[in-house]
Amino acid sequence: MNYAERLKNVTVLGAAGKMGSGILLLTAMEMTDLASKPENKSRQFVLNAIDVSDQALGGLMKYLKVQVQKAAEKKIVPLRKVYEDHADLVDNKDIIDRYVADVIGIVRPSTRLESAYQSGLIFEAIIENPGLKVKLLSQINKNNAKSPWIFTNTSSIPIHEVDEKAGLGGRILGVHFYNPPAIQKLVELIRADSTQSELVDFALVFAKNLGKIVVPSNDFAGFIGNGHFMRDALHGISEAGRLSAEMSFAEAVYTVNRVTQDFLLRPMGIFQLIDYVGLDVCQYIMSVMNGRLGTPCGKVSPEVLHSPLLDRMISAGVRGGQRSDGSQKDGFFKYEKNRPAGIYDPDTKRYLPVSAFQAACDERMGPTPLPQLNWKSAVKHPKKEAALEDFFGKLAAMDTPGANLAKRYGERSREIGLKLVSDKVAQSEEDVNMVLLSGFYHVYGPINKYFKPVTSNQ
Ligand SMILES: NC(=O)c1ccc[n+]([C@@H]2O[C@H](COP(=O)([O-])OP(=O)(O)OC[C@H]3O[C@@H](n4cnc5c(N)ncnc54)[C@H](O)[C@@H]3O)[C@@H](O)[C@H]2O)c1
Repeated sequence: MNYAERLKNVTVLGAAGKMGSGILLLTAMEMTDLASKPENKSRQFVLNAIDVSDQALGGLMKYLKVQVQKAAEKKIVPLRKVYEDHADLVDNKDIIDRYVADVIGIVRPSTRLESAYQSGLIFEAIIENPGLKVKLLSQINKNNAKSPWIFTNTSSIPIHEVDEKAGLGGRILGVHFYNPPAIQKLVELIRADSTQSELVDFALVFAKNLGKIVVPSNDFAGFIGNGHFMRDALHGISEAGRLSAEMSFAEAVYTVNRVTQDFLLRPMGIFQLIDYVGLDVCQYIMSVMNGRLGTPCGKVSPEVLHSPLLDRMISAGVRGGQRSDGSQKDGFFKYEKNRPAGIYDPDTKRYLPVSAFQAACDERMGPTPLPQLNWKSAVKHPKKEAALEDFFGKLAAMDTPGANLAKRYGERSREIGLKLVSDKVAQSEEDVNMVLLSGFYHVYGPINKYFKPVTSNQ
């Protein structure tokens, strides 16, 4: 079966979700582009969008239309070429409308799993529930005579586990898009020992056509991205706990968040990132990873990823995450116009205004190195390497609470990155760095020359 044949009938499972909707959008446009090629004129392309409710699917179709329209406006020049034989399509608007209609025309929204029984390729993007993923995939596999390939978007479950439990015979590959799939460049590819190599060959072409950066990860729970992020988040939570002995919890959260953003030059502080992903999602991913973490000798790791603070916040109803319109829900921070304005106090269960302690905390932390650099200016800096070296060289020489916290943080991030390589989760240091650079938009990788072991306890 060639590339176009494999993409003739595709299903996205969990299509109305955050990841499913983006994967559906990208796949629908790739299939429409294929359908427009002369050699595929006789093929009928079908993309099943399966989710649990008609209401969610209705919303999905509206989202899809808007997104395809935007994408079409951006690629109007190649689209003019695609539709050059259509004398009736004169203006850009005619071409865009036709393209939107063509893309939407191949998508079949459905609440019935049976719609996947004719597909040669299934993108699985339902909620991160191992039992449910296994149940649905094994049902599709038993009823689909085409021996379909499964590309799962799981963030944490080892691929071999799904393969064995769903009886897929190696027809499964981890294709881990980042959120939101239409914008994020990174895709982690995770092959189990049993994964058939044809799936990998196909996925590489598919990802290339979508303009993605592919990083391979070995088949250990959490892979590279969450392998780093979950431990990095736990480090931030533990630093905030340590600081809570000398300041209020809200001040400690503010301090760690500010240091991870402004002293480490990250796009957002660690507590904002946890809010963005969702406290409950982080808690769940950690629970899935526990007992499934690998070691190089193949034994289960005794490491436990868990935060009692997250448990406490979640049981008080503080979850973070995004609303369907993309706006940020309250988590560690209370958001006003998507900017942190308050910090949650678990004792009083109220948000305290950041403005009440911001100046005092900033004063206590001390300044960031000069000349001023932040994530945005570092990304765009014409001499980025030199600017980073200068900034972190100065940071290394500083002995302020903020600088020392940042140095410990940078060193822990580096240690986590190196452990991912020594545990054979990542194939190389470059792969770890690439995941953090392209999936988390860091301006430098965790395995770098800027941070050395820090002994100061300040
Ligand atoms: N959100 C992220 O940042 C992110 C990033 C990378 C990977 N992932 C992974 O992608 C997957 C989906 O995550 P998400 O954030 O899009 O979740 P989500 O909750 O936004 O979407 C999940 C979708 O699955 C649907 N669903 C649930 N049960 C179903 C069933 N029985 N049949 C069909 N559809 C069903 C839900 O209705 C929902 O629309 C998870 O495995 C997650 O770990 C998430």
